[in-house]
Amino acid sequence: MIVLFDRLVRPLLRTLDPETAHALALNALKLAPLPRAAPDDEKLRVDAFGLTFPSPVGLAAGFDKNAEVTDALFRLGFGFVEAGGVTPKPQPGNPRPRLFRLDADQGVINRLGLNSEGVEAVAQRLAVRATAPGIVGINIGANKDTADRAGDYVACIEALAPHVSFLTVNVSSPNTPGLRNLQQASALDDLLSRVIDARERAAVGNKPKPLLLKIAPDLTLGDLDDVVGVARRRRIDGMVVGNTTLSRANLRDAAAKEQGGLSGRPLFALSTRMLAETYVRAEGAFPLIGAGGVDSGAAAFAKIKAGASLIQLYSGLIFRGIGLIGAIKKDLLDFMRIGRFDSLADAVGRDAAAVTAEPWPT
Ligand SMILES: Cc1cc2nc3c(=O)[nH]c(=O)nc-3n(C[C@H](O)[C@H](O)[C@H](O)COP(=O)(O)O)c2cc1C
Repeated sequence: MIVLFDRLVRPLLRTLDPETAHALALNALKLAPLPRAAPDDEKLRVDAFGLTFPSPVGLAAGFDKNAEVTDALFRLGFGFVEAGGVTPKPQPGNPRPRLFRLDADQGVINRLGLNSEGVEAVAQRLAVRATAPGIVGINIGANKDTADRAGDYVACIEALAPHVSFLTVNVSSPNTPGLRNLQQASALDDLLSRVIDARERAAVGNKPKPLLLKIAPDLTLGDLDDVVGVARRRRIDGMVVGNTTLSRANLRDAAAKEQGGLSGRPLFALSTRMLAETYVRAEGAFPLIGAGGVDSGAAAFAKIKAGASLIQLYSGLIFRGIGLIGAIKKDLLDFMRIGRFDSLADAVGRDAAAVTAEPWPT
């Protein structure tokens, strides 16, 4: 089925406007009678945030914004799925076109602007599948026109925490004006105190859900010192490093002139460097999810060695197809065998110090 899709359907999708192709892919996932994925090799298992992941290969936020196809995504072989980003109220996002494929660079630029059906619709869908197998997290954001950004995250947590395995506080989308300012130390401290409070309240006697913070790869190292410091003091459960970048280095595709966040292969070096920088600052206080330009097993393993306990991908699917998920898992097992790692945990952060000593990626 996966081979068929990649051979027949994907070439067709690539002839379409990217947002139309995305909508079609979502519909295909809703309708296709996908068989259950084969169980993963036990060696790929990862324990993080109090959860046991069957493999470290996750879907990044932004593909299934409204949590419409989470269970189909597990059938494609993902070890976990981050749905969202979701905002409290429905909002349309920016005008189209707002999603661009950079074929020459294997990159993507998006300025969707957190288009969301809103927390109510998403909570209803997640509630229906809340006891189904598979680790689903939700990426939460703020409405563009909100007067109280932190209050928006609190509203999302209140509505969604009961139905998910983890929540990711997205303060790093570049397409909502001002959102990334929440990464500044005092704003972040206020935000984290409120969201942690909200998730404790939402737990009502149960174990509170893990709360992760997703950052931009464009922070300065000074900013990163502050962000990790605040995250550690507030005892956040983990970080996702990271979101799309505003930088535009070494691109060839004409679409590189488009405004928005860049993802895919051109993001790999910067995001992996920021991951390693975060890892050395976190000093094991919490696990990290590495995202940005994972489009092969080698790229996934490089993220793990730079400090990621888990990885996420999105853009790689567009260029490599859904066969990429199985290919990464197979390659990770090969790399573990070659490097004599009994578990992926043994490889996490092995290269972090070396990566931080390299010249800054350009
Ligand atoms: C079309 C698109 C929409 C995205 N939407 C979100 C979002 O809603 N929230 C978020 O935190 N990240 C979002 N992202 C960022 C991804 O989750 C991921 O961090 C980034 O794309 C880097 O991974 P990649 O290079 O594998 O795509 C989006 C990315 C793309 C390409």
